[in-house]
Parts: sequence; C-alpha cells; structure tokens
Amino acid sequence: DFSWKLADHPTLPKGKTVAVVVLDGWGEANPDKYNCIHTAKTPTMDSLKTGAPDRWRLVRAHGTAVGLPSEDDMGNSEVGHNALGAGRIYAQGAKLVDLALASGKIYDGEGFKYIQQNFDKGTLHLIGLLSDGGVHSRLDQLQLLLKGASEHGAKRIRVHILTDGRDVLDGSSVGFVETLENDLAKLRKNGIDAKIASGGGRMYVTMDRYENDWNVIKRGWDAQVLGEAPHKFHNAIEAVKKLREDPKANDQYLLPFVIIDESGRAVGPIVDGDAVVTFNFRADRMVMLAKALEYEDFDKFDRVRYPKIRYAGMLQYDGELKLPSHYLVSPPEIERTSGEYLVHNGIRTFACSETVKFGHVTFFWNGNRSGYFDPSMEEYVEIPSDVGITFNVQPKMKAVEIGEKARDAILSRKYDQVRVNIPNGDMVGHTGDVEATVVACEAADQAVKIILDAVDQVGGIYLVTADHGNAEDMVKRNKSGQPLLKDGKVQILTSHTLQPVPIAIGGPGLAPSVRFRNDVPDGGLANVAATFINLHGFEAPTGYETTLIEVVDN
Ligand code: 3PG
Ligand code: CO
Repeated sequence: DFSWKLADHPTLPKGKTVAVVVLDGWGEANPDKYNCIHTAKTPTMDSLKTGAPDRWRLVRAHGTAVGLPSEDDMGNSEVGHNALGAGRIYAQGAKLVDLALASGKIYDGEGFKYIQQNFDKGTLHLIGLLSDGGVHSRLDQLQLLLKGASEHGAKRIRVHILTDGRDVLDGSSVGFVETLENDLAKLRKNGIDAKIASGGGRMYVTMDRYENDWNVIKRGWDAQVLGEAPHKFHNAIEAVKKLREDPKANDQYLLPFVIIDESGRAVGPIVDGDAVVTFNFRADRMVMLAKALEYEDFDKFDRVRYPKIRYAGMLQYDGELKLPSHYLVSPPEIERTSGEYLVHNGIRTFACSETVKFGHVTFFWNGNRSGYFDPSMEEYVEIPSDVGITFNVQPKMKAVEIGEKARDAILSRKYDQVRVNIPNGDMVGHTGDVEATVVACEAADQAVKIILDAVDQVGGIYLVTADHGNAEDMVKRNKSGQPLLKDGKVQILTSHTLQPVPIAIGGPGLAPSVRFRNDVPDGGLANVAATFINLHGFEAPTGYETTLIEVVDN
C-alpha cells in the first residue's frame, strides 16, 4: 500500500529550517587561471570547504550519475535539478530518444503516426538546436530522424536550424551546417525535396525560457512560419559564414535568416497542412515555441498567421500542461519527487530564483511539472531577470536579491525548506567572458553568505551544492588537461563541464554528530534529496538513492 507518509528519522529532529542552496554551474577543478571560482574571492564557499572536512565533499553531476547516455556527457541543469529534486536517477531525454531511434519504435508511436498523416500533401518541418552538445538536442538524432522520416513517407522536408555555441565551442556552427547540408543532398538524390529553410542563434531566436522575452520566439516565428527575416540567403552555409563575419557576431546570438529560392521566395514557410516537429528533447527552451505552435488562443505576440498543422515535440515538454499534446518519445516518468513528499509531511517550502533559472528550482526540481503540489504549503517567488542583455554585462545578476528573498523567508519562520538557485556561475560562464565570470562567482558567494547568516539567526541548517560545472573551467583542454590552442589562441569554453560539484552541510541546527558517510564514494546529485529529507527529520522514501549523511555516537 502506497503512502506519502514518511517515517520519522531515528535521531534527527524535526522543525529545523533547512536552506537548500544550488549554485548553478559551480564545479570543482584544479586551481588555474581559467578557473573563475578559484580566481574569484569566495570567502563563504571557501570556509565551507576548509571549515569542517567531514561536512564538505564532492558529488558526481554528469554522465550516468544523472541519467545521461555516457560519461562523456557533461551535466546540465535539467538533469541536475531532476536528480536533486527526485532523489533517483532516470534515463533522461537524450537516452530515451537514442533508444527509440535505435529500435525504430519512434516510428510506431502515436506522435509519429499523427504527423505522418500530413506527409502526403504537406511539408515536414524540423525545428531545433543544431549541435552535438547533447544538452537540448543532438545532431546524430536529427540525422537519424531525417532518414527515418523520409523512409516513412516524408517527401518534402524543411529544417529550421538554431546555431549553438553555448553547449559547444563558438564557431562550430559552420561545421554542423555543412554536415546537415551533406545529409540533405543525399536525401535529394533519393528524390526527397529536403532543404534548410531558416536559421538563427539559439539565444536570439526561439530558445528563450520561462517567458523571459517573447521577442525571441517572435523572431523565430517570423522566420520559420512566416518566412520573413532581415537577412536572406540562397544557402545556409553562406548565411552562417556571412553573418559571423561581423566581429561582434557569435553562434549563440546569430541574427535570424531565411533561405530563398532564385525568385526570392522563402523556401520553407510553415503553412496549412504541414507537419512540424521540434526535435529538442529538453523542455525549458522549447515550451514557449510549443505554446505558440499549439495554442489556438495566444496573445504573447502577433502570430500574423496561425497555420493549421500537425505538431509533435520530440518529447512532451510539460507533463502538467500536457504540452505539446503529441510527441514522438515519452518523457521520463519522474514521480514521487521530494517536493511532493514534503507537502504531504507538513514541510512548508519556499523556492526562489530569478527568471532565467526560476523553472530550474520549481519545474525541473518537481520532475518537469509546472505549478504547485499544494499551494497552501508552498510559495515560489520569481525575481524578474534583466531582459535583452548578455549577462557578462551584468554579472552580478540578481544574486543579492535572491539571497535577500531567501533571508526574509528564513527569518519569517514560515517555511521549513527555503530553496534557491543562484545562477551567476552558469549564466555568465556561458558568455565565455572570463573576467565577468569572476565577478559573477563573487556575487554568488555573497548571496550564499546572506543566506547562511539568516540560517545562523534561526538556528537552522544549510545544504549548499551545485547542479553541474561551468565557471570552474573556461577553456577547452586536451586529454592531459592543457589548454588547447587554435591559431595560437586558447579556445574559450562556453559550455558546462564534466567536473564534480561540492556539497556542504552545517549550521547551528545540525547536530554535531552528523557527518558525511565515507561509504558512498560515488555519490551524485541523486543522493542529495535523501540527505535533506533526513535533515527535515524524516527517513528518505523507499527507492530513493541513499543518503550522504550518518549520525555518529560521540
Ligand atoms: C542553456 O540552456 O542555457 C544551456 O544549454 C544549458 O544550461 P543549463 O543546463 O545550465 O540551463
Ligand atoms: Co548552463
């Protein structure tokens, strides 16, 4: 018989305020001038590391520890927060899509059959991130899907590409477009009318998240659906190369473009009777486009034309909203998350971040569900992010504001768990600006201090950790760890890393007898939920990855 009721922890008390702090993009690596966390002045995080050796350790945050296909897969915020919140490891989108493509089951599913009905008369449009980053999408999956769709009846295919430079090196877009063009040429040889129809940089076109800036979606809509963009080219390789000639241009923010034919007409606007697939498996940056494609009633921007299409996501991006309603691969079924247990056991939760990471501590944390489990037990606060800037310009972001909101929540004594995401290391790390990332890490450290001071005042407990690495290594390295040079210059790493992340516990409310166990050497992010559930005075639920702590008799 299933019950939400958790058993009492044999020794740890209830009623302590527990602050759960997630530093986004904060890994552990050797000291080095490209380690921005090392360069930055971070007295608070340093004191956690050196203060109590049995209350600070590293946990795994990449690869199979977070449900990714291989140990070569860097961690990311989706899988990281899923693992942190759910306390178990789920095979994630990247892996599930691999399996569905390898077995061919993807073509037997409801989602594919649904879009397939428009292959006869309409065009199949594929929209998504073109790279091998493995965070939101993967080029090899797109290649298999193109081949499979054409074998299953698609006769006219248009690909709408988003260039990356964030999960992969800046400038790599050209090579990915060349690879795709090669594949499309092969399809054309086999009589399939297959072309790239539009494009743009992921951060400027289409892939916004958490409704931060609808203009980003609109720019994509104009190019993909209406076939309109400020820049027009006859082929995509030329487009990307030309647009990158501007010294300020980069893959992430590439301007939107459409491909036109000899008569100057866009080759692939989306029209009535077409089929559309968004081929990213990751949810956060596809939800907004999914809404624009799927919702009849929509007022976020003027769509001008709302084509009657059959649309499917690679995955269903939001289980609560059932969005999109058709999808090619079923998402991981993340059930019984810690947040849901907490509301059933009298634990009141406060969660906060700024917009760009707000869904991470709520939606991803809760197993890709939007909204509350029980609004009477939870409060989620979103601090609006600055819009329309790259965060190297504003590296402090809203760290202090997040810290202060958490402080106020702790001091109010209205909540048992106060949970935040502090985005700076990640969001600024992704810009590749080393100096700004140092400032970002200092701001994050200040926010942690504000929270730990409040924990002190109420006699509470803190658990500080991170979701994956980023700011601790800003350069591409060879196998032996030396910076890789290209044309005599180091190659800046805008992406996440494979590094482990720290976890620290402490605070006046933590019994002196609590320490990290040393029999969980491979502990990862999925072990964290059992750990904080213990800190709330409960045994972890059945099936959760084991706790990282033990209580020793003194
Ligand atoms: C992004 O979406 O910004 C990056 O691809 C991954 O970053 P995140 O996993 O830290 O959100
Ligand atoms: Co990131």
